Amino acid sequence: MLIQDILRRKRDAEALDADAIHTFMRGVTDGSVGDAQIGAFAMAVVLNGMNREEAIALTEATRDSGQVLRWNDLKLDGPVLDKHSTGGVGDLVSLVLGPWIAACGGHVPMISGRGLGHTGGTLDKLEAIPGYNVTPDDGVFRQLVKDVGVAIIGQTGTLAPADKRLYGVRDVTATVESLPLIVASILGKKLACGLDTLVMDVKVGNGAFMPTAEASRELAEAIVAIGSGAGTPTSVLLTDMNQPLADCAGNALEVHEALRLLRGKGRDSRLYQTTHALATEMLVQVGLANDAADAATRLETALASGEALERFSRMVHGLGGPSDLAERPEHYLAPAPFATDVVAPRAGTVNAIDTRALGLGVVELGGGRRNAGDAIDHRVGLSHIAALGQRVEAGQPLLRLHAASQADAEAIRRQLDAAFTLGEEGSVAPASPIHATLRKEDLS
Ligand code: URA
Repeated sequence: MLIQDILRRKRDAEALDADAIHTFMRGVTDGSVGDAQIGAFAMAVVLNGMNREEAIALTEATRDSGQVLRWNDLKLDGPVLDKHSTGGVGDLVSLVLGPWIAACGGHVPMISGRGLGHTGGTLDKLEAIPGYNVTPDDGVFRQLVKDVGVAIIGQTGTLAPADKRLYGVRDVTATVESLPLIVASILGKKLACGLDTLVMDVKVGNGAFMPTAEASRELAEAIVAIGSGAGTPTSVLLTDMNQPLADCAGNALEVHEALRLLRGKGRDSRLYQTTHALATEMLVQVGLANDAADAATRLETALASGEALERFSRMVHGLGGPSDLAERPEHYLAPAPFATDVVAPRAGTVNAIDTRALGLGVVELGGGRRNAGDAIDHRVGLSHIAALGQRVEAGQPLLRLHAASQADAEAIRRQLDAAFTLGEEGSVAPASPIHATLRKEDLS
């Protein structure tokens, strides 16, 4: 089958059969398809779309372009499952959720990413912990998944290599914004981890990857249909990103917050509610809990007994971090040299928060990257971020800024202040950070 013929068919808005898609993606993987052809393919998909069968075939071809993890030989005593998020600000769910699920009998091989644009990355947060190695040997990774039940590591070049190449071309050809390409990219990598179940957290709001609530919903529906169509039961929670999920953002600050939750604190927070809802969905979908009430009991036991915290500690130590991080976090997580409050210029209720601006603020402080490969300052970030609907008086803090120097802090003070819209009393914050849950049976 000629590659140019596959391109002509997609250019002319014909549906491609699975054979054509697999042939194309094999060429992407082995290098026989050139960058120009990848660009032409991506643009044709952006312009003409793909039907569900094509999108499933593209996802399967991405998944199968490299190693697909198999767990049978380890004789695990529980199911293999994972969660993935479209990314947010103050979203440290993975740090808490992975160990929590492990403490409930699941095995979580979590392959995570670095910060992208204004959103933070799980790997960057974990690298705030001295010694934590996000690229361990395969044997270490598998042993931790078996013994501890969770290992959070970085992408290994052998998983879904076609995506790395395709995404690289999309990034420079204005072809990132295509539902089938986005879904194949996200799910191709996740489904290569050999999961029994995947739960996706699709963010909705001004800090989300998708630009509108409708687009987030469309992505959620496509993920459920395509993930399940490719053979991995997949459900989605649509969750709020109209404000940072935690009241802090920044790598070391978020590790502190993860430890606080794993100690059973902060149960009234949006972060706890979101993590709990995702954990419940995972446990019920995979059969580790009979229903939401049963999941709640198991999750409570795992937290109250200290087992979830213990799993986190064992994972950290198993990947090269200190064995006593949970006992002495301040010894290992250095604070930023300079801290100052950004205060409200007048009294009012927080009516809106520009979440993206806060995420970019962390990047500008050095807590994220402007360019791939930039070094990160894990100490910097924001804490005590005022919440939507919160009343503040003139001169009271909107947030606390943690910077490498006073000059760095002053350089972005205005921008952070402007991220908050103060208005009249009575504006409403959403009652729950969970907008909706989508499962296969919900799709028409
Ligand atoms: N994240 C991914 O991994 N892939 C995309 O295409 C978009 C976001």
